[in-house]
Amino acid sequence: MYKIAVYPGSFDPVTEGHLDILKRTSKMFSKVIMAVVVNQSKDSLFTIEERLDILRKSIKLDNVEFDSFDGLLVDYVRQKKGDVIIRGLRATTDFEYEFQMAHTNKKLAGDIETMFIAADNRYTFVSSNTIKEVARLGGDIACLVPESALLALKKKFNK
Ligand code: PNS
Repeated sequence: MYKIAVYPGSFDPVTEGHLDILKRTSKMFSKVIMAVVVNQSKDSLFTIEERLDILRKSIKLDNVEFDSFDGLLVDYVRQKKGDVIIRGLRATTDFEYEFQMAHTNKKLAGDIETMFIAADNRYTFVSSNTIKEVARLGGDIACLVPESALLALKKKFNK
């Protein structure tokens, strides 16, 4: 039986879509670690500490921990004694990239499984990138991100 799941991502910032996946995953495993990737080529709006702060304020679940990781995901999962990597799938457009990552990770660590959770209907169109764009231009994204992310976005963009 699988026990410890790692839910990795940029979470720049976390959205209600991510949190929905997290809540559903937390019911399936004894422990879930939501882990923010540190070293990535993408330009980020929020620092790792800011992203973790937004996450910690967004939701509290008994079996969920927040953390960050650097380097290979599978090494981090091993270090945390995890068995499963969780990734959300919004649409078929996500699939190719996710499938590539899942197979690469499987090649690197055959004992670690990737599990995909289908995004809830309400959030299939939500991405951190569009959230940032709309927030920067002053649009209303209140129902798509937690309060902590909303406040952090407003502060960043002086809105
Ligand atoms: O939210 P994102 O940006 O789609 O998350 C991507 C993430 C963090 C899961 C991926 O970039 C990752 O695992 N990075 C760590 C480096 C690594 O292990 N790369 C090999 C996997 S293909």
